[in-house]
Amino acid sequence: MTTITELKHHAGATVTLNGWVYNLRTGKGIVFLILRDGSGLCQCVIAQDQVDEAVFLAAEGLTQESAVSVTGTVVADERSVGGHELHVTGLTVHQIAVDYPITPKEHGVEFLMENRHLWLRSQRQWAVMRIRNEIIWAIHRFFQGRGFVQMDAPIFTGNAVEGTSTLFETDYFDQKAYLTQSGQLYGEAMAMAHGKIYTFGPTFRAEKSKTRRHLTEFWMIEPEMAFHDLPMNMDVAEDMMRFIVTEVLANRPEELKILGRDLSVLRNITKPFPRITYTEAVERLTSEATDRLLTTMEEERKAEKAALEAELPALEKELGGAKKFRKVQIENRIREIRARFEEIEEDFRNIPVWRKSALEKKWGDDLGGSDETLLTMQYDTPIMVWGYPSAIKAFYMKRDPDNDAIALGVDMLAPEGYGEIIGGGQREESLDLLLERIREHELPEEVFGWYLDLRKYGSVPHSGFGLGLERTVAWICGLKHVRETIPFPRMLGRLHP
Ligand code: 4AD
Ligand code: MG
Repeated sequence: MTTITELKHHAGATVTLNGWVYNLRTGKGIVFLILRDGSGLCQCVIAQDQVDEAVFLAAEGLTQESAVSVTGTVVADERSVGGHELHVTGLTVHQIAVDYPITPKEHGVEFLMENRHLWLRSQRQWAVMRIRNEIIWAIHRFFQGRGFVQMDAPIFTGNAVEGTSTLFETDYFDQKAYLTQSGQLYGEAMAMAHGKIYTFGPTFRAEKSKTRRHLTEFWMIEPEMAFHDLPMNMDVAEDMMRFIVTEVLANRPEELKILGRDLSVLRNITKPFPRITYTEAVERLTSEATDRLLTTMEEERKAEKAALEAELPALEKELGGAKKFRKVQIENRIREIRARFEEIEEDFRNIPVWRKSALEKKWGDDLGGSDETLLTMQYDTPIMVWGYPSAIKAFYMKRDPDNDAIALGVDMLAPEGYGEIIGGGQREESLDLLLERIREHELPEEVFGWYLDLRKYGSVPHSGFGLGLERTVAWICGLKHVRETIPFPRMLGRLHP
């Protein structure tokens, strides 16, 4: 059995490919079948005068997503998808698919989400999953190559890590249990056993708002390192992100091309990531530069809307007399324009809200999604914002020894408006201070007994962070929404398929 990616090693040979019909074009005495086998696409040419009559008849009767095995000679052809095509001699039909719901015409995102189990077969979705896989593989290589041990944190837990408002509660043999929000606390215990560890697992947050950044189930990678302070932690996060992006650029150029990803910002990954304090971030948000950015944004949207409005009448006029293929093209374009209008209208509604949030930011306020967007639009590499107000950060964060109002936490924000992809920091290692924080946060002391033990028996400075896999995939792929970054997204209002 040969796969399409392997065809380059088989030029001139006869091979059999197994897959599905991605696209079919029939002409006089000839059928062009684009085969999809999971590894790639390949054009298979079935000429009536080259095959048995039964084979040609079978080929003519194929439909989108029918399952087939195709035998033929591999011919190098630069113009063909993937650089090779198959001159067919034999065809076996495994199953004929009837009325596959996802057609070349443009579909609304709700329809596609309902058909996620099938949508995964489409080119763009395929490319996203390939890149997701590359990122996962790069993360493992990065940590394994640096002496980290991968360990797994439990998913059922007895306590909150990241605040109590986003806990999923479940019944655990008549006891309350929660789905984990983060493996960090367990990671700290494991780091005291192995020095440097990372967890890689699903985490859960009952996020009750629909945003393009939030899932209720997402995958987090959480390294935890003994004898590491905040600057060392930031070095690891920066090196890791540089490694991930470099590997994707090197190994997934085809997939990035399918997505139409602008590579210039990804290529900036070799530059050092600016490290700014929270205080500097607030100064930047309340500055003239942010005000100007918003004004430009508004003007750009107005110009875009006007250009699209000007395009519409000609399209609508052409539609009346258009032939079948062109008609689908025009309808798709019109649908695209209308969808973009909705986005632009939403931006018009949002811009004043974003402006108010950013320009009126006071020291001590948390940075919201739009603040992060506005901040990261002003950089062309990821940035690290550190030294947040301790009042808005988790109980476990160590505070600046010289300034109790500041926590030694860090967020990595992705450029191009993507915002937070990593959250982490240095942990409080003093037993007394940690107890004080647990009481201040009114957390149940008894369930944290084991965690406090870590401060009784060989407590050391230590740090770590959590990388959100889906947000990282969204940024690297240049996607607007995290829903396309995971095979079966779970979010508010979506549990199926
Ligand atoms: O910033 P967070 O909440 O940090 C923690 O959970 C720490 N305990 C991690 C640690 O230090 N070990 O979450 C970490 C990252 C975020 O930066 C974001 O990328 C992602 O997890 N994330 C989400 N991704 C998708 N949907 C959500 N609802 C997310 N919430 C957080
Ligand atoms: Mg965070």
